[in-house]
Amino acid sequence: MYRSLRILLISAVTLSVHAQSPLYGQCGGTGWNGDKACVSGAVCTVLNQWYSQCLPGTGAPAPSTTIATATLTTTSTTLPTGAECAVPPASAGSLELKGVNIAGFDFGCATDGFCNTTGAWPPLTQLGGNDGEGQMKHFFNTDGFNTFRLPVGWQYLTNNVVGGDLNEANFQKYDTLVKTCLNIGATCVIDIHNYARWNGGIIGQGGPTNEQFAALWSSLASRYKDQSKLIFGLVNEPHDVPDIKIWAASVQAAVTAIRKAGATQQIILLPGNNWTSAGTFISSGSADALKTVVNLDGSTTNLVFDVHKYLDSDNSGTHTECTTNNIDGAWKPLAEWLRCNGRKAFNTETGGGNTQSCVKYTCEQTAYQAANSDVYLGYVGWSAGNFADTYELNEVPTYSNGKWTDTLLVSSCLSPKAGYAGKL
Ligand SMILES: *[C@@H]1O[C@H](CO)[C@@H](O)[C@H](O)[C@H]1NC(C)=O
Ligand SMILES: *[C@@H]1O[C@H](CO)[C@@H](O)[C@H](O)[C@H]1NC(C)=O
Repeated sequence: MYRSLRILLISAVTLSVHAQSPLYGQCGGTGWNGDKACVSGAVCTVLNQWYSQCLPGTGAPAPSTTIATATLTTTSTTLPTGAECAVPPASAGSLELKGVNIAGFDFGCATDGFCNTTGAWPPLTQLGGNDGEGQMKHFFNTDGFNTFRLPVGWQYLTNNVVGGDLNEANFQKYDTLVKTCLNIGATCVIDIHNYARWNGGIIGQGGPTNEQFAALWSSLASRYKDQSKLIFGLVNEPHDVPDIKIWAASVQAAVTAIRKAGATQQIILLPGNNWTSAGTFISSGSADALKTVVNLDGSTTNLVFDVHKYLDSDNSGTHTECTTNNIDGAWKPLAEWLRCNGRKAFNTETGGGNTQSCVKYTCEQTAYQAANSDVYLGYVGWSAGNFADTYELNEVPTYSNGKWTDTLLVSSCLSPKAGYAGKL
């Protein structure tokens, strides 16, 4: 999420009417009011309760078994190619990780990678913030969420010393949030909220050295190497990084450091350029550069691409109205690339306002991701934690009379209980 001071008024949503859904377009699912017929050469195929898609084929609509058999036999030996990459296997339909960001420790961080440590605000009541523990327990126990992303500034963890030496007092506070998350039984994501930077300088390209970045991750990985439900998010939203191949080398340095510190199995999230935009992951060169990053043994096991996508007019996550479900512009082309390359991505930031337009588009996006759960691990909404209810993308539930109440977008689309993410 990046902040913009602009205020934009959005005109009314235009409804378009098609006679038939295009190839790979939606053609059915609960709540779908659009066309149920597919263009010639495509068959409407049920991917889950919420999403049916026009997939290549003609005549009898029995493709789910036909396609599944073909895909399943090929994926075990070789990767799919060409048009095969557009087709999820029959096993897809349910996202593994469904989460919410619990923000606060990152407050004070700007998009130039400067973090004012006095702005860091722990989202825990015992540390003076909102009841992040209560929020997470509610999300986990009532809604069926199983993942929380915990943003924090690099400067906060090291008390403004660039490198890897953790400041014990500050680290203990952040660790309290991490342990609270893990104790609930959730999967927890460490997110260094620094935009590939430290105080304006880009990691490995004029700013901190790769060794300094790797030292941070080595320190964190040594503390958490025995926590199998922890995910390491290397850095939030790199942007305007001049050389993507040099950036991939910085990412490789951090991955190597984490694995050498003994955290050999955990998922590591690899972020691309352009604010980790899912829509430009391929065109920005991030996909090709980051797919070369490997574990110590040369494998890519548990190296997952980190992608963000908002649903507002400029993908900034600063507007309360949504204009797209991102399927054609981002999730479909990316799913095909991931399948062709045998890789996965995790959408660790997405969201919109608590408005009808965002409900419509976010539910569609979630259903599409679930239909392609072989390549998408899941999503994490932005954001709960320490935000006020006036924040455009507020997902903080409110507590009153012994009961938590979710915001509209959470209860309608993001909550696993809403049904769009697949089975609970
Ligand atoms: C950091 O934030 C505090 C208020 O939270 C402010 O007083 C201070 O000037 C800020 N420091 C910098 C360097 O921006
Ligand atoms: C970054 O993404 C925006 C849309 O979100 C796009 O307009 C722009 O061209 C992209 N830039 C690069 C370098 O890919």
